[in-house]
Amino acid sequence: MVSSSADQTLAVQVVDSMERMSGRHPGCRRSSARGAVFRATFTPTGAAAALTTAAHLQTRPVTATVRFSNSEGDPHTPDTAPVTRGMATRFHLQDGSDTDLVALSVPRFVASTPREFLELTEALRPDPGTRRPEPARVHAFVHAHPHLAEAVAQQPPVPASYACTAYWAVHAFIWVDAAGAGQPVRYRWEPEAGRTDLTAAQAATRTAHYLTDELHQRLERAPVAFDLRIQLAGPDDPTHDPSTVWPDHREEITAGRLEITAPADGQDLRDTQAFDPTRVTSGIQISDDPVLAFRAHAYAESHLRRSHERQSR
Ligand code: HEM
Repeated sequence: MVSSSADQTLAVQVVDSMERMSGRHPGCRRSSARGAVFRATFTPTGAAAALTTAAHLQTRPVTATVRFSNSEGDPHTPDTAPVTRGMATRFHLQDGSDTDLVALSVPRFVASTPREFLELTEALRPDPGTRRPEPARVHAFVHAHPHLAEAVAQQPPVPASYACTAYWAVHAFIWVDAAGAGQPVRYRWEPEAGRTDLTAAQAATRTAHYLTDELHQRLERAPVAFDLRIQLAGPDDPTHDPSTVWPDHREEITAGRLEITAPADGQDLRDTQAFDPTRVTSGIQISDDPVLAFRAHAYAESHLRRSHERQSR
């Protein structure tokens, strides 16, 4: 794993590259620029308690904050675009601390290392003439990194609703039990309403912000719920590569149920905050995945830039 200061230097380069890819949108996140924040309650089932001492995975419910987003760095990207969607959850623990779980609507990440991600964002930089990425550059990236072909080829669904798609936290995390034993796990939010995708023809009839509008309307009728599904690694399953998945038949448990009840107050204030996928809590450790450790630096760099831009408005 590279050192923390090398990660910080690389984070500056990566965020610069993300700005070249998506344009610079002052005050906005450099990825997942447009989103909305909601109030929620998370109720653990108790099924995880034998495997981790994490406070929110025992028996008592905790409050949570959830941000759904369109994963593009350009806040004007319409919801009808076939891009990934984000679901970032902050669990507010009884001792006053927080822990985050940041997930996307696809199971694999497009890079195994931060450097590969930098190369991919460079390959996706729009051509100044056409304002679109050059397919030849993306093909060359995949040719140079054949192990990423499947991840780069993933087609994110265009969901009928933020409430009708699954979200994967992608990386492995290590759960630690009361005796100190570790179990690698992967997280997935499974929507209680089921998964429903739109066809291209259906998507063409929706508005640019239909996902946020639909969720607000849905919440006026009833809460929206997700199960927190946990996949338990087998003895030889790798924990370091977010572009790969573990076999489907690995044992799964349901660790809890998230119930989203209403839009959160102060959306503007919440835009000044940042999630951090490495903000774990006692009973959970980050794995040896270099992308996971690196994300803390990239998110901090993006947060720093957008905070300065907001202050100088
Ligand atoms: C090299 C890998 C990655 C880099 C450099 C990266 C970069 C970023 C940056 C700069 C932000 C904006 C942070 C902010 O200003 O607060 C962001 C947000 C986000 N990323 Fe990533 N990301 C990476 C991998 C991932 C992965 C693997 C996932 C999914 C598991 C993911 C899901 C998200 C989501 C959902 C958000 C929005 C969070 C929010 O609502 O505040 N990212 N990412």
